[in-house]
Amino acid sequence: MRPTPSPQTYRVKSFGCQMNVYDGERMAELLADQGLSPAAEGAEADLVVLNTCHIREKAAEKVYSDIGRLRREDGSTPLIAVAGCVAQAEGEEIMARAPAVRMVVGPQAYHRLPEMLKDAAAGQRVTDTDMPAETKFAALPQRRRAGPSAFLTVQEGCDKFCTYCVVPYTRGAETSRPFAALIDEAQRLVAAGAREITLLGQNVNAWSGEDDRGRAVGLDGLIRALAALPDLARIRYTTSHPNDMTDGLIAAHGEVAKLMPFLHLPVQAGSDRVLRAMNRSHTVDSYLRLLDKVRAARPDIALSGDFIVGFPGETEAEFAETLRLVDAVGYAQAFSFKYSPRPGTPAAAMDDQIAPAIMDERLQRLQEVLNRDQIAFNRASLGRTCEVLVERRGRHPGQWLGKSPWLQSVHFEGEAQAGDLVSVALTEAGPNSLHARLLQPVAA
Ligand code: 5AD
Ligand code: SF4
Repeated sequence: MRPTPSPQTYRVKSFGCQMNVYDGERMAELLADQGLSPAAEGAEADLVVLNTCHIREKAAEKVYSDIGRLRREDGSTPLIAVAGCVAQAEGEEIMARAPAVRMVVGPQAYHRLPEMLKDAAAGQRVTDTDMPAETKFAALPQRRRAGPSAFLTVQEGCDKFCTYCVVPYTRGAETSRPFAALIDEAQRLVAAGAREITLLGQNVNAWSGEDDRGRAVGLDGLIRALAALPDLARIRYTTSHPNDMTDGLIAAHGEVAKLMPFLHLPVQAGSDRVLRAMNRSHTVDSYLRLLDKVRAARPDIALSGDFIVGFPGETEAEFAETLRLVDAVGYAQAFSFKYSPRPGTPAAAMDDQIAPAIMDERLQRLQEVLNRDQIAFNRASLGRTCEVLVERRGRHPGQWLGKSPWLQSVHFEGEAQAGDLVSVALTEAGPNSLHARLLQPVAA
């Protein structure tokens, strides 16, 4: 293939989860260190990174259609790199089917983008989907930019092997980043303006490490250490597995003021038979008992979850158990999905795949009750006074947008700046956001 002039501008398009957002930011930093600049809004970039997601339906088809859309009238394309979990799972097919793609880079290999870029500019097509034992993080540049709310990946991969899920195959085994590296990255994010840090991991509460005194610590130990950073105001973490919800982490919810009262704890289904078939290794009852403990530690905690409807063999009665579980919990918000067979996962080969029309109908019924509960949660917040972390301007003049401690979007009018923590009274509740009256800034 012909060499191309070295790219000057880049665009990273991230799909899927928050970890992809984090990876996308890190890739952008790497490219910036190579002297590339972000393409201006609306302008074509010389290099386009498609940072893909493989968790549900049509991930690969979406990549091919995105590649098609990058084609110019004369048939040429910018330099295209496919990154993320589709790259990891289907890299070879992508290279074979899409000649316009010049680089395929997996989620554990993107620190090698600069070298790959040189080879690609010299006319080669390069693939790197290795999952090296040594960590990519040490090879990434130091953090220099951060908005008021920043992501920090502390853990990657998953050993749980839920039978529907591709993550153990695309992101590999559970690994925890070292304590010192995380404290260092958090300090840099705070120095760059972050007031809130969300700790990320496919199984974030499986994080483990050794603190600065050599003691074995879990995620709660890391959270307690981060809470000691003076300019960091808020800490969150996502996504957790019920089995890794330790007593120490639950206690931290009651004891660490900077740890926000919000917990995303996926349950997936409300039937023990389905949970067993999913290899979830918890029951409905153990999940509910866990939530009781969390609520005892932090009574105002807002709960969130993930649900899958139409897992192979799910009967109407089993689905009704999911609705009952939702009623019993009262989620502040939740994500719900139709089951999607993922190539290579055990569930994809199971009998009794559920018809799409039944899945549609179940998803609709589930979302009705979840939406009802979300509105109820928002309404129950009315009259409360709380702090909002201001993230950006709203759509209307003089309006600002931020988040409540319970992760609700809040808008208000008045004097403020991004990064402020302001005190507000919550005055109006919609399904997806709340309106508030500014009381007074809490801290600049
Ligand atoms: N089909 C549907 N939903 C899935 N999820 C993961 N794999 C699948 C699948 N094959 C959902 C789970 C998980 C969330 C990130 O995505 O609910 O918690
Ligand atoms: Fe996937 Fe289950 Fe691991 Fe979550 S815990 S990433 S759903 S295998």
